[in-house]
Amino acid sequence: MVLITILPQWNQELPFKKKKKRRRRRNMDPIIIVHGGAGDIPESRVQGKLDGVKTAVITGNKILHQGGSALDAVEAAVVSMENDEYFNAGYGSVLNLRGEVEMEASIMCGKNLDVGAVTLVKDFEHPISIAHKVLTDSPHSLIGGEGAKLFALSKGFAPLPPESLISENAKHALEEFKKHGEFGRTEIGIREGGTVGAVAIDADGNIAVATSTGGMSGKAVGRIGDTPQIGSGTYADNSVGGVSTTGHGESILKYCLAHSIIKLMESGINPTAATKTAVEGMTSRLNNTAGAITLSKMGDIGIHFSSRRMAWAYIKNKKLMYGINHNQILEDK
Ligand code: GLY
Repeated sequence: MVLITILPQWNQELPFKKKKKRRRRRNMDPIIIVHGGAGDIPESRVQGKLDGVKTAVITGNKILHQGGSALDAVEAAVVSMENDEYFNAGYGSVLNLRGEVEMEASIMCGKNLDVGAVTLVKDFEHPISIAHKVLTDSPHSLIGGEGAKLFALSKGFAPLPPESLISENAKHALEEFKKHGEFGRTEIGIREGGTVGAVAIDADGNIAVATSTGGMSGKAVGRIGDTPQIGSGTYADNSVGGVSTTGHGESILKYCLAHSIIKLMESGINPTAATKTAVEGMTSRLNNTAGAITLSKMGDIGIHFSSRRMAWAYIKNKKLMYGINHNQILEDK
């Protein structure tokens, strides 16, 4: 008896069922929200701040709608405000007591809790982009001063003369600070911070947060505030939401403001109530003002500030909403 086995030729595909290509589910409508700093903002600076937050949110939204990630969107929104002298971040950053810029930034990915942060940056236009590189390319979370400079240079960031980041407004704020010796008198004085931030959720449901600042006018050389500290200035967790904060740095970091809001949301409180409870809680406990923007994992929004003003803008369901005063919600058609 001859046993005949029919084998497929070695170079033929075996007759298995073809595997279906698994498509990534992209079922979230992207949302982005930005802030341009909480504080005692004078009337003369209101329009510039509103224009700046609208430009930033449109910049980030474009990336989200082209299929970009939440991380890239929040970085781009913050870069846009770092370019704008109406904000205390990048160009326009406030000055320390020696008249220098010392900038700080952080960024966080809610999918895997990856973080990147830099502090005491003097020579680069976009601290948030260096922070993003720390997130993607460094085994560390927060790099400061000379180390941040070396890291940025090694990654190809072009250095600038630090004086080129100093605006007339920042010089004026430092003069005022030195004259009055009281923090918080000027718009970009110590109470305000004037920090910028962005929170986004992309089509995959990933949440990212970015925050960037020049700190406080008249701060000590080497002072580090809340912005580069994860949990104070920035927090993102896909299972809860994302928060970026602004305001009096020493108070925000004592209260771990961003993480306090996340914890409240985790306990079932909605983002509006969580943001208000934590910001007002910090203010009554520590007698300083702050503001925060929040997104829940479901895309619900929270905005609250205990300062006189805070510029904010968001794009959700193709609508651009914005404001700067309490109880003000404007819409751009
Ligand atoms: N929130 C900015 C700062 O105080 O440094």
